[in-house]
Amino acid sequence: MRDALYLAPLFLVASLAALLGGCDKDPARDSGLFLPPPGFVADAGKGEALFNQHCAQCHGRGGRGTDQGPPLVHRIYEPSHHSDMTFYMAVKQGVRAHHWQFGDMPPREGVSAEEVGHIIAYVRREQRRAGIR
Ligand code: HEC
Repeated sequence: MRDALYLAPLFLVASLAALLGGCDKDPARDSGLFLPPPGFVADAGKGEALFNQHCAQCHGRGGRGTDQGPPLVHRIYEPSHHSDMTFYMAVKQGVRAHHWQFGDMPPREGVSAEEVGHIIAYVRREQRRAGIR
């Protein structure tokens, strides 16, 4: 019981930070769950196939964008502005439209955290190739 009392304010602060933080929130504190297991090794090659299967419909071949969604190979999504965590959160919870006029991104059910890890490796590789780092 005493522990619960000590933890309650911490939990409140974390939730508030997540609510107020918007784009820059640190979702790791928020969910802590939708992440690959320790020791996971991301593979950009696997990520490319998974990206084409689950994301390219809106984000385009090679992450170049479509009329359904923005390019992820874009300065806006460079690692310092959209950390890897924002990818896990986008897939798990969806995204409220805030940078573009495409509407909201719905959560992508059926894509595992490991699969997102591979997809991130692929998107980061494409970003580096486009000079975005
Ligand atoms: C049905 C269309 C659609 C699909 C499929 C889709 N997205 Fe999105 N996604 C969007 C749109 C639209 C936005 C832009 C929202 C905005 O205005 O900022 C977006 C934004 C994002 C963002 C930015 C999140 C942020 O915090 O700003 C990430 C990361 C992302 N998508 C990753 C993915 C990944 C990874 C997949 C595949 C597993 C995927 N998306 C599949 C439509 C889609």
